[in-house]
Amino acid sequence: VERVNVDLGQRSYDIVIGPRCLTQVGSLCREVGLSGDVLIISTPRIFELYGEALENSLREADYSYVAGFMDDGEEHKTLETVSHFYDLAIKAGLDRSSFVISLGGGVVGDTAGFLAATYMRGIPFVQVPTTLLALVDSSVGGKVGVDHPKGKNLIGAFHQPSLVVADIDTLKSLEPRHLVSGLAEVIKYGIIWDKEFFRYIDGHLEAILALDPKVLTQIVKRCCEIKAEIVAQDEFDENVREVLNYGHTIGHALETITGYKSYLHGEAIAIGMSLAAQISCALGSLEAEEKEAIDQLLQRAGLAVRPPNWDVQEIFSSLLRDKKVRRGVVRFVLPQGIGKGYVTGDVPRELILDVLRQALTGGTL
Ligand SMILES: NC(=O)c1ccc[n+]([C@@H]2O[C@H](COP(=O)([O-])OP(=O)(O)OC[C@H]3O[C@@H](n4cnc5c(N)ncnc54)[C@H](O)[C@@H]3O)[C@@H](O)[C@H]2O)c1
Ligand SMILES: [Zn+2]
Repeated sequence: VERVNVDLGQRSYDIVIGPRCLTQVGSLCREVGLSGDVLIISTPRIFELYGEALENSLREADYSYVAGFMDDGEEHKTLETVSHFYDLAIKAGLDRSSFVISLGGGVVGDTAGFLAATYMRGIPFVQVPTTLLALVDSSVGGKVGVDHPKGKNLIGAFHQPSLVVADIDTLKSLEPRHLVSGLAEVIKYGIIWDKEFFRYIDGHLEAILALDPKVLTQIVKRCCEIKAEIVAQDEFDENVREVLNYGHTIGHALETITGYKSYLHGEAIAIGMSLAAQISCALGSLEAEEKEAIDQLLQRAGLAVRPPNWDVQEIFSSLLRDKKVRRGVVRFVLPQGIGKGYVTGDVPRELILDVLRQALTGGTL
């Protein structure tokens, strides 16, 4: 079992990573001083798989708990779902000493976190992530929230967890497509922050895909360390944290124009990362071999780096409509060699269009 500390002064917390640590949630909660009643938030499907282990660990540590369920899927990450949980919390008599435990992927974690951020002006919150994306990304950093009909993640808060328990065994039941999608974010950390980690992923890809517990623990640990380091520098997403958006500029546009139906998040950002690498290459910030290494690793992981087909103008207009665009400037995170990402608003429009066109026709620049 490994531990990563997220250093945020009074809001610091540990991420406990390893196989079977789900059985320790109760004792770990005691260790960090949580003493009230527990509200578990999950989905019926995930609870069916892991609820019993969580309940047993809470019982062993003498916690009383109630469980609240939401339906599976992004479309249920809404205020309506949260409101239903407020009713449940009030009915169960939960007070300011109570705390929330989320058991699930990013959808459950974001929703449960927003509930914890707002119930009685905020109660403590423990994340038990069960998808690779949640283990390496969404459970760390304190961004919580729900979607609005007009856009994703429009309603939210910063509310750091008191503890994250990352049981890598939960990945055994995850659909391979979701595992691979999460791998896109793992590879992202290597490209924007740590060349050696990029090489490590490259050298251990088969073990990762086979869910080797030792390798997975190391992978999740390094991702959490990197995210912790970035979040510690910029808790409220004012500057440094933007580097985590590598691949997300074009990735989001792709998700948007396909109505969030064709691509899983990681699948879309894999394409976005490859195209951003291509832009970086054209600007002279990335060697052609490095760009090739990025594409190769993504593809070996099972991620496509080109969309089957798209309308260049449509994706370009979507880029311009993004909420992060100000005064018509599209911001990109680009790799400056593998291992370092930088943010720029200076990519010429013609270059963006060229790269999109080339991707569509399969040619090279
Ligand atoms: N807060 C943040 O910083 C942050 C960062 C990135 C993404 N997110 C959010 O995360 C969400 C996506 O999260 P996700 O990719 O985990 O998707 P998800 O939560 O929808 O989970 C994916 C699917 O896997 C199932 N599942 C979860 N764990 C399982 C397991 N162990 N075994 C079998 N099936 C399991 C779920 O029921 C679901 O069907 C999005 O809403 C996104 O906005 C938040
Ligand atoms: Zn992402």
